Amino acid sequence: MRRPVFAANWKMNHGPTDAREFMRTFLAHYARHSDRLVLFFPSSVALPAVVESLRERSDIRVGVQNIHWEDKGAFTGEISGSMARDAGAHYALVGHSERRHVFRETDEDTARKVAACFRTGLVPILCVGEKLEQREAGATESVVTRQLREGLSTLDAAQVAHMIIAYEPVWAIGTGKNATPADASAVHAAIRHELRERSPEKGAAVPILYGGSVNRGNAAALLEAPDVDGLLVGGASLDAEGWSSIVCA
Ligand code: PGA
Repeated sequence: MRRPVFAANWKMNHGPTDAREFMRTFLAHYARHSDRLVLFFPSSVALPAVVESLRERSDIRVGVQNIHWEDKGAFTGEISGSMARDAGAHYALVGHSERRHVFRETDEDTARKVAACFRTGLVPILCVGEKLEQREAGATESVVTRQLREGLSTLDAAQVAHMIIAYEPVWAIGTGKNATPADASAVHAAIRHELRERSPEKGAAVPILYGGSVNRGNAAALLEAPDVDGLLVGGASLDAEGWSSIVCA
């Protein structure tokens, strides 16, 4: 059985002061649940504040929204996986659609970042997803499969077993238009098939999260869909009480 994963992607929201306040409220609402995994992806500057708030709560983990593929050097504005790990991160988002489409990161960049995660002891959450025109052209599966194959290209089957995949259709992110549970499930099944091709047993264990306009109203139905093992949530994770009600669903 895969344990459901609830991941909050705060994007460029919540500095350290807001993050501390958020965590105070959230922890008052969310008792330990051993049957689910809750993850926070704050901005890098708020990460130490979140790690500090969770000192007594090792059941909740923290990650970074992005890393560079090099370990150190002259890359102004970037952070490396080893720096993130040192600051208390255990996970990293890689290939988020905003990185791909706003910051023009390629599949090759994404693969290098996935490799850097393994080198530095971070668990990557590899994000994949099609644009609206690709869905309308019937190319969803081929786009997602390509992103997945390229993103995993440096890994062996044992490594793949230690990561998480997130399916986030670009047209659903921040738009209020979520994929239906059936649509999400169909793509998750294609991802699962691809993972099983690499390793029948280990491919079955990899959590596949859905992301894109998840909210209190649709979270439970999405989570019940076959092969949806968790949720990656942006906008609806910014309010502590709202997020705790999604996580407790
Ligand atoms: P959203 O973002 O929940 O605001 O649509 C999800 C994401 O980008 O991870």
